[in-house]
Amino acid sequence: MTAAPTDVSAPPLRPFLKWAGGKTRLLGKILPHVPAEFDDYHEPFLGGGAMFWAIRDRIAGAPHLHDLNEILITVWRTVQQDPAGLLAALDYYKSNDSKDFYYSQRQAVPESLVGQAAWFLYVNQTAWNGLWRVNKWGQFNVPWGDRPFRGFDEDTLHRLSDALIGATITNDDFRVTLEKPKAGDFVYLDPPYLPISDTSKFYLYTEKRFRAPDLAELAALCHQLTERGVRWVMSNRDTEQVRDLFPDNEIVRFTTRRSVAAQNRRDVEQADSPEAIILGGPRP
Ligand SMILES: C[S@@+](CC[C@H](N)C(=O)[O-])C[C@H]1O[C@@H](n2cnc3c(N)ncnc32)[C@H](O)[C@@H]1O
Repeated sequence: MTAAPTDVSAPPLRPFLKWAGGKTRLLGKILPHVPAEFDDYHEPFLGGGAMFWAIRDRIAGAPHLHDLNEILITVWRTVQQDPAGLLAALDYYKSNDSKDFYYSQRQAVPESLVGQAAWFLYVNQTAWNGLWRVNKWGQFNVPWGDRPFRGFDEDTLHRLSDALIGATITNDDFRVTLEKPKAGDFVYLDPPYLPISDTSKFYLYTEKRFRAPDLAELAALCHQLTERGVRWVMSNRDTEQVRDLFPDNEIVRFTTRRSVAAQNRRDVEQADSPEAIILGGPRP
């Protein structure tokens, strides 16, 4: 199935939620390594989907979008399947928005899927620094960000929804989703970066941490993609550990300035971050 055509007069679509590790700022570096056209598109670590929104016109087949974070996937699926219901559910948050309301809702996750999607978009826009962070019981625990809730304008939401027509969107682990890509497809992988040290801060996207053995399994699956003739590109931190896992791949290395949320302060720290773009599969 072909993705919905783009309306060239409308502004380009972008991620509709703020996500730690989102790749919007690095797209200029990564996009030159993405083929101009391919069959199906696979993104196993979707987050806000910065890459998907940027390259959707290059997809001749269908998009396959996945992430282990369950509620994140609920939001994507609700945008795809029920934009009108989502707009109605968002109205509740828009008309009640205040600091007290935020704290009353922070852990009040609704039961319905459309309610969960609206709740998530509300806390994503109004939480401090747009952070998604859960404690070890999986409860959202970010303080109020002192920002008004804008919600969504109807037109943009319908355009986002149309762009997802024909997309498969699932809450699966990469070990499941990386079985499917075939020759002619393209895969963009943006796994959580391993912490620099055991004591360094890291984002807990799900209750389950992404650790070194996960990265090693991921590397093995990437090598299988190459053997099956699938082109892929991975973003990661440029470390010896990462380079060792991809000894035969071309790796493009660069440094970027990254914003790091300071846990107990309102501001954000800047840090140099060595980045790697790992290229795999048949080259043109
Ligand atoms: C660096 S973020 C991706 C950011 C995304 N590229 C963007 O532009 O917003 C990594 C994502 O991997 C997801 N994740 C963590 N462990 C996973 C697993 N085992 N399988 C699939 N997704 C996983 C997290 O929930 C998180 O959304």
